[in-house]
Amino acid sequence: MSRRPLIAANWKMFLDQQQARNLASGIVAGLDGGNSAEVVLFPSFPLLAAVAAELEGSPVALGGQDLHPAPEGAFTGDVSGRQLADLGCRFVLCGHSERRRDHGETDELVVRKMAAAVDCGLTPIVCVGESLDERRGGLANSVLARQVDALLELAPPDLVIAYEPVWAIGTGEVATPELAESAHATIRDRLTRGLGSARAEATRVLYGGSVKANNAGALKRREGIDGFLVGGASLDVASFLGIITGSAQPG
Ligand code: PGA
Repeated sequence: MSRRPLIAANWKMFLDQQQARNLASGIVAGLDGGNSAEVVLFPSFPLLAAVAAELEGSPVALGGQDLHPAPEGAFTGDVSGRQLADLGCRFVLCGHSERRRDHGETDELVVRKMAAAVDCGLTPIVCVGESLDERRGGLANSVLARQVDALLELAPPDLVIAYEPVWAIGTGEVATPELAESAHATIRDRLTRGLGSARAEATRVLYGGSVKANNAGALKRREGIDGFLVGGASLDVASFLGIITGSAQPG
């Protein structure tokens, strides 16, 4: 089963409108001539409309960094999947570790967000990953199993999972290709048990955590790594394009 690679840019709470427009148009221009990967940009909410305008007519897709589980309501400061879809988003991140950590998001809430995304016609990219303490304590596989199992009952056919070890996010400490491959195998094993092998084989599992142009090649060659969720290195046109095109030397 061949899965189309997906490379996602998580811009987090960075950039103003002009910077976001420049970055989006630089990425679109750099991809001119084609590339086989699906590319998705995740700007923060106030930047979505500006970036949507830059992406119009291009193959690059747009996504939101979070959503509320309800379609609408009295939830000050929150954003619904319906609003994201209305702005042209096709994807949404659910359960990024920064939200699990800073906003107390539980597995149960992440599943409700995933289901809300599906209801709004959005493709959820659900983030999973163990902390440093959990890895040191030998708990990495059981944490991944718990986080993935929570999704199974309501998982849509186009679900995307991003394996993001918490200790590798924004730290410059990337997982070794061996470690990432083994975590991806654990995730796909849980998907196979819960959804059957055909669906598990069709599900894209991305790696995220300090991905750079100079380490993407070595990760990408590993079995079961179907693309990347990129934070810091997605804020620069050349480094993000380097990751997408695979033109960088393996680290
Ligand atoms: P990083 O972030 O690439 O800066 O480590 C990845 C993420 O948080 O999705």
